[in-house]
Amino acid sequence: MKISVIGTGYLGAVHAACMAKIGHDVVAFDTNSARVEALSNGQAPFYEPALDELLSEVLSTGRLRFTNTAEDAISDAVMHFICVGTPQLPGSDAADLKYVNSAVALVLDHANCDSLIVGKSTVPVGTAQGLQATVASSPNGYQLEMAWNPEFLREGTAIEDTLHPDRLIFGVVSEYGEKLLMDVYSSIIEDGVPYLTTNLPTSEMVKVAANSFLATKISFINAMAEICEIADADVVTLSRALGYDDRIGRRFLNAGLGFGGGCLPKDIRAFGARAGELGASDAVGFLREVDKINMRRREKAVSVAARLVGGNFLGVNVAVLGAAFKPNSDDVRDSPALNVAAAMHLKGASVRVHDPKAGVNARSQFPTLTYCDTVTDACANVDLVVLATEWEEYRTIDPVSFRSLVRNPRLLDTRNAVDREYWTNAGWQVYALGRGALKC
Ligand code: UDX
Repeated sequence: MKISVIGTGYLGAVHAACMAKIGHDVVAFDTNSARVEALSNGQAPFYEPALDELLSEVLSTGRLRFTNTAEDAISDAVMHFICVGTPQLPGSDAADLKYVNSAVALVLDHANCDSLIVGKSTVPVGTAQGLQATVASSPNGYQLEMAWNPEFLREGTAIEDTLHPDRLIFGVVSEYGEKLLMDVYSSIIEDGVPYLTTNLPTSEMVKVAANSFLATKISFINAMAEICEIADADVVTLSRALGYDDRIGRRFLNAGLGFGGGCLPKDIRAFGARAGELGASDAVGFLREVDKINMRRREKAVSVAARLVGGNFLGVNVAVLGAAFKPNSDDVRDSPALNVAAAMHLKGASVRVHDPKAGVNARSQFPTLTYCDTVTDACANVDLVVLATEWEEYRTIDPVSFRSLVRNPRLLDTRNAVDREYWTNAGWQVYALGRGALKC
């Protein structure tokens, strides 16, 4: 099938490559020429495991092209995937829909045959119906129609999540839309992936409800961590014990610094804002609490760090291991790790940050912090090591050899990533968030 993909960020670049991988002819459009050039050369402008390899593979088949000319991507395609961002509006909790609106307008301007416009971006419920009204009344001359097919990919496992998703959701207004979506995903459906066809608002709700549930699950266990820290209980054992209950499940019950990134924080806020517009603020009032619990974890990490170094950061050297919002990503949007690093810096600590992939992005967001190329450099002569993003590289640090590197062997493990006993036996003072009372 001839497909256009509009927007080549994390979502669009991966989606375009995966659609070409399953046999479609894809032209992906972005206004950013540098991005288009990099992608055309098989280089993702961000870190996503195995994406460069996949890009090279599908570019060489001729089934994938990138362009910065909208008409080139759109005119012949029978399906247009809208993969642009919906960031938080400055000064508001609501989502900024200007990129989605302009992407749909581009399709209306350039479509040269009957085609389906498929939204993948996360949008407030009701957006797609509004767009459908615009599309249906457009004087374009061809049969154009909206559908919504929300994306659930996680950074770090984006290719796997796209090629082997847990489910496919088709929000449609007609059998024509449903049939085209079933055709485009036929190989994935044949693999046994469940799919559900529904109306436009339900499909939008599936995405925001899923992200709200995940955020709530993380904040639930972090709220339990707050109590564990006072009651001298252990949140890691608690998570395991809860997780054995099939009704609860172990996934997304990792207590720690909480959630960040370009999706969960902004999506729960936008959901709250939309519920307010719909006169239903109370229905999702709990999401405000979820957000607050999440942000309190960052403050807690900073206050524990201060206590570990004797109450004051002045004259203190701190290594922060991790800047990305989660491992296997170079994304620092709303990163809890960077937030904690910056807060300690503002309180007078000399902060040295290391991240295997996110150093460049972190430096552009917080240029006043010191960035190190190696973990060893970051940890040399420090009074405290804060493990803030659970990269595998940090889990496997040898505490024995690292002990001679630092000035004071103290570790704050904000992600419950290392073996506490092993580090303690190697002579370190270790505190892990949620794992009992802090005794100092
Ligand atoms: C999320 C959703 O999972 C995905 O379905 C949606 O399409 C986009 O948003 P992503 O932002 O890539 O994906 O990351 P995710 O793996 O969900 O992690 C989000 C944040 O939660 C990270 O900061 C992570 O460190 C944190 N997290 C996750 C926890 O603190 N504890 C957990 O148990 C799981």
